[in-house]
Amino acid sequence: MWNRRDFLRMGALGSSTLIPKAFNSIEQVAAASAGVADRAPDEVAQDEFYWREIQEAFTLDRTLTNLNNGNTCPSPRVVHEAVKRYMDMANMLPVQYNGMIGRNVSTVRRRMAAEFGCDVSELALTRNASESMQIAQNGIDMKPGDEVVTTEQDYPRMLTTWDQRMRRDKIKVTRIQFPVPTTQDDLYQRFEKAITPQTKVLHFCHITNLTGQLFPVQRLARLARSRGILTMVDGAHALAHFPFKLRDLECDYYGVSLHKWLLAPIGNGLLYVRKENIAKTWPLQAVPDRQANDISKFEQIGTHPEALRAAVAEALAFHQAIGIERKAARLRYLTLRWANAIKSHPKVKILSNLDAGQTWGVAMVGIEGVDPRALSQHMMDRYRIVVNAVVGGTPPQQVFDYSGLRVTPNVYTTLEEVDTFAQAMLDVAKNGLPPAPAGRGGGGRGRGGV
Ligand SMILES: Cc1ncc(COP(=O)(O)O)c(C=O)c1O
Repeated sequence: MWNRRDFLRMGALGSSTLIPKAFNSIEQVAAASAGVADRAPDEVAQDEFYWREIQEAFTLDRTLTNLNNGNTCPSPRVVHEAVKRYMDMANMLPVQYNGMIGRNVSTVRRRMAAEFGCDVSELALTRNASESMQIAQNGIDMKPGDEVVTTEQDYPRMLTTWDQRMRRDKIKVTRIQFPVPTTQDDLYQRFEKAITPQTKVLHFCHITNLTGQLFPVQRLARLARSRGILTMVDGAHALAHFPFKLRDLECDYYGVSLHKWLLAPIGNGLLYVRKENIAKTWPLQAVPDRQANDISKFEQIGTHPEALRAAVAEALAFHQAIGIERKAARLRYLTLRWANAIKSHPKVKILSNLDAGQTWGVAMVGIEGVDPRALSQHMMDRYRIVVNAVVGGTPPQQVFDYSGLRVTPNVYTTLEEVDTFAQAMLDVAKNGLPPAPAGRGGGGRGRGGV
């Protein structure tokens, strides 16, 4: 509901729209954030004037509604322009400029460490979460009989990595199952029960890619450390999504895809390795022994485009201009908006915990008796909504007995978009799916990965 203050602010915004917008949307967003700094994030989450400023920072195809940001997020215009600029620069004389941009990337490491709460000597820039996690998974020495405890709902590629180590090194992998949504205590107890004297690693997600189930990272890390066990945490979906500091998690390894919630260019990841573990972790590509204790050993991948890494600086600045508290509150507001609109329908099953501090921009929903793959296709065919169908698989894939749509809005998502999704869900819950349109189609069933 608009009030007098909103109209006065719109007047102020209206006059500024007569002046051409600055190219630098970071400044625009920072100015908008300064204008709401005296209000609580939960209140700002409902301020459409503020979020309009964020929405305008992106060059999107607004004929499509993207509710699959959990896969890969688009970058704001300012980030994408930076990639092009650095790419152009590098191409002038690659041996000179790619190297120079690469040296400047030390600024990105320093700022990322400061923002996300770790020492810069514990942070490596990688290409994605898969690379980060596999450096940890394949990098530690393990002997036959050593055990890893993980879950059936960890990311498929990470499960496959452990599967390969089982074949290669004869280690044992225990995958625990858990209901969704569940409590932090339940997850803690399941891990505690699964630990044996042979357990060397606990591996789990900070939040899962499926229902967004949150894990008690710090408690599990403390439990593991007290028994001489390492913790590897898959934070692909957590960093830059909701507020926390890496050092507070107390885990040993933490991997992230920066092209998810940080909105960095595709091909950026982060690996945190607790200082005492660096020397005992083998890098992906070989380095001289003198580098054994140096975090930069995990970045050795041969020649690569430094432009992509450099543009993380813009993504970080954009992220900081919004502020993590406001971003998390808006993602949660958007999720609650669609979830609350449909959750009381008897056929609708919300598979994520909607309590405060549990869920932000990743949540899952099913409709009783409706195949989520057909539902996802219907959303595309009828509404041009991109949203992911999730169904459990068989080993070595993720194994679970629920299914639904994984719904992941973003900071640029409009209320009209989530409202249309909610109405479409209610329509299917009441009337079932209409027959598939003949000869037309969207992107194919089960389109896109999770
Ligand atoms: C929980 C989780 N871990 C790891 C990954 C792998 O990320 P990437 O493909 O960017 O390496 C994903 C991707 O969706 C994920 O959701």
